[in-house]
Parts: sequence; structure tokens; C-alpha cells
Amino acid sequence: MDIEKIKSKFMNLADEIYIFDTTLRDGEQTPGVALTVDEKIQIAQKLDSLGVDKIEAGFPASSNGELQACSKIKSLDLDSTIVGLARSVKNDIDAVLDADLEYVHLFIGTSPLHRDYKLKMSKETIISTAVSAVEYAKDHGLDVEFSAEDATRTEKDFLLDFYNSVIDAGADFIDIPDTVGVLTPVFTKDLMTYAKSYFKTPISVHFHNDFGLATANSLTAIECGANQTHVTVNGMGERTGNTSLEEIVIALHSAYGINLNIDTSQLYSLSEFVGRLTGVKMPVNKPIVGENAFAHESGIHVHGILNNPFTYEPISPELVGHSRKIFLGKHTGANALKSKLKDYHIELDDNQFDTVFNQIKSLGDKGKCITDDDLKAIALTELGSAREKPIKLKGLGLLCGAVVSPTATVKLEIDGVEKETSNTGVGPVDAAINAIRDLIKDTMNIELEEYNLEAINGGTDALADVFVISSDDEGNKSTGRAINDDIVMASILAVLDSINKLLLIKRS
Ligand code: KIV
Ligand code: ZN
Repeated sequence: MDIEKIKSKFMNLADEIYIFDTTLRDGEQTPGVALTVDEKIQIAQKLDSLGVDKIEAGFPASSNGELQACSKIKSLDLDSTIVGLARSVKNDIDAVLDADLEYVHLFIGTSPLHRDYKLKMSKETIISTAVSAVEYAKDHGLDVEFSAEDATRTEKDFLLDFYNSVIDAGADFIDIPDTVGVLTPVFTKDLMTYAKSYFKTPISVHFHNDFGLATANSLTAIECGANQTHVTVNGMGERTGNTSLEEIVIALHSAYGINLNIDTSQLYSLSEFVGRLTGVKMPVNKPIVGENAFAHESGIHVHGILNNPFTYEPISPELVGHSRKIFLGKHTGANALKSKLKDYHIELDDNQFDTVFNQIKSLGDKGKCITDDDLKAIALTELGSAREKPIKLKGLGLLCGAVVSPTATVKLEIDGVEKETSNTGVGPVDAAINAIRDLIKDTMNIELEEYNLEAINGGTDALADVFVISSDDEGNKSTGRAINDDIVMASILAVLDSINKLLLIKRS
């Protein structure tokens, strides 16, 4: 899509769109998040390497640490412009100057709620306070961006007077904050169209995500001519956060064909890095950077993806430095399983493949999501299991409790004939193995020489991996292995696997 075509659709689109990142200021206002100076420096370096135009490094007047962070980030001489936040008071602007910054983001509340309940100031006093702050900042050589806090709940006429006054006083950029996230795309369009018709000064937007619309509203504002949007990594920020950096950059790139000077391949690693430092993990379904953003399980989808990833992906994971994942579970199709096994260089014959496929489906039906480790273990176990299975498990019943002896009822098919019996033991596994011994005693006697139980991956729903060595009365030994979500089943199937191998030796 070329920019001229987009411009003809959105007549007011600005020639340049700037990304103002406020992860280190509004993002840090995420409840429970506090970054050290060093952590802020590391994030600023990554934002700069990504290519954002402005980095709001902090609120220098709020603490010594904030002032230090802003000043140290400024001293790195990054390509991004470093911005400091300040209330419309001399002291705050001095702190921005003390941090050696050249760009101040000034703000003051303008809505009736802020005027009456927070600032207790008249409209006139608010305008004169803002104007004095701009004049002071400009007199001290600062570039000024001015935000009318809670702009979207401010009377339109007053907002117009307010912005005109700060522009006349010398503001270089005006910013429209939707402080409590009440806008929708339609209201955003109205507001931006109105603002664009009145102001020649570049306009920025700062949108919160209370209704989940921050990205949509920022895109609408850009369509209507906004020159800049404030964003945060992972959409962090007060309450439900701000417009998300990764969402806006990729939506502009992919839906509008607008490429900013951003190295999109760093988006996923930056998201992970910020998530680790702040302790705020992204939900798996977070657009662009969530763990499931390029993950597929359904057979129909995986089939499409294997032929052409764009069948079920809007962009390629490489664009944002992410990777594609194919999950196995109850929706898995044969194609997905084949492709996974190929990745692991595991070759199964048709019978083995069917067994693995059915086991995965049945685990999926029980609500289990099969990890790559689970699949490898299941497939390799099947590969190593007895080639023929003269003895098959047809049924198992267990009775356990505090006052009764553990009792197992086992039904086997032996060479096509079904037999069933019950026995007791010191535990359910022992009871089941005793019942198996009874059922096969006409064919052979077996001893369990070794029994080993491990869990694949941690967690209470981990699959049990049982390895056994059994011997028969002729001195033959054989291994057996089985994986199951139930420890007793895994144990019994492992023992049966070793018995089948012994039987094949006996009959060879
Ligand atoms: O949301 C807001 O209004 C702000 C201001 C400081 C601009 O973050
Ligand atoms: Zn904010």
C-alpha cells in the first residue's frame, strides 16, 4: 500500500507521525511497579535502539531517583529526545532543567472535576497558571509539550481557549489526554477533526485503555491528522494502561502500510524484557507479543499454516521477533503431529503414529495441553515399545482406602482372548501387577527387577513416565516404558510393554 493511496483515503494524515514513549513515566505508574535507575537506563537504551522518537524518562520533581534517572538517561546522548514530566509550577520545571533535559511535558487538569475537586481553581487561573509555566519553560530554552489533563471530559469551548492560550505562550506541541479512557473511535474522530480545524501547532494524543479502546482511538486520531501518539511497552500504565507501543506500530505498518522508523523485529524481546523487569507478565492472548500471538492448535488452522502461514496469521512472527508455536491437544490434526515429529526427526510407522495420535487426542480430551517435551517422550516411548502386542490392557478397576487392602481388577486380551481377575497388593500398582501375574501365569512367570517413575515437566498435572525392567523364568530380561497422565496406568502399561517384549523373545 503506498502512502499516497492512504493519504487519499485519510485526507488529514500527517506527513510524519511521531512515537512518544512513556513506559518510564506513565508505564511506571502501573500499580505495583517501581523501576530502579539502572533498570530505567536499560529500558531507555532499548527504546532508543528500537527507534522511538521521544522517551518520557520520568517526573524529575517527584523524587531524587527520578531526577537521577532522567539526568543519567539524558547523558547517554541517545538519538531519541528525552522528555521530563512537570506540573505547571516553577519547581517542577526547574527539576527538568536540573536533569539537563531539553524537552518538558507540562500538564494541568482542565475538566470540571479536576478544576473543582483537585485544583480548586477557576478556568481563568488554570489558563494563567499554564501560560506562566509555558513562558517560564520557554524562557529557559525548553521545548514544550502541553497536556490538558482530562481533556476529553473538559468543555469543548474551554479546551479551545486553553490550548489557544498555551500555543500563544509558545507551546511547541499540544497533547490531548484521555486521562480516564472514556473515548471511543467515533468521539475521537469528532474531537480530532475539531482540534485539527483550530490548531496549526502539532497535536499529540495520550490515550488510556479503560474501555480497551486506547489503540483503536490512537489509530483514529492518526487517521484524522494527529502528529504523535503517546504509547507504552505492553500497554502498561495507570489502571488498565495506555496505548500499546507494539499494537500501534504494527497496526500502522500492516493495516495502513505506514512504516515508522521503528525496528519492529525488536518488539517481542523488548516486551519480554520490560515484563521481566516490571514483574507485569503479559496475558498469553496479548496482541503482537503474547505467547499465543502466533500459536496454533486446531487441526484446520495448523493444516493451513503449514501450507501458507498467512492463512491464519495476519503478519509473520519474524516481523516482531516472535516465533510460531504449534500446540498439540484435542484439536490437533494429523498434519500438525506429522510436522512436529518431522521437526524432532522422529519417524513412526503407521501403527505407532496412530497410537501416538490417539494418546494425544485422549490427553487433550482430558483438558491437557501437550508440551513439546511431552510429545517427544510419548513418541520416543512408542518407538521403543514392543513391535507386537499379544497382550493388551482392556480394563482396570482399583479399590483403595484406609481400611481395605488395595485391590485391582485387571482385564487383559491375551492372544485375542479376554481374561479378567482381581488381586491385592501393598498399593494399587502392586495389586494390579499381581493380577497381571495371575492372568499370564500359564504363559510365563515374571519378576519386576526395576521400577522407575519420573514426571515430564513439573506441576501436578505432569505426565508420569514409568520405566521398568522385568525378567521371565528363563532368565530373559526386558525393559518397558509408558507415559500416562495417571501414575497407576503408566506403571501397568510399562509392565505390560516389558511382558510383551519378553513374550516376543520367547516366541522368536
Ligand atoms: O493521563 C494523563 O492525563 C497523564 C497526564 C500527565 C498527561 O498521564
Ligand atoms: Zn496518562
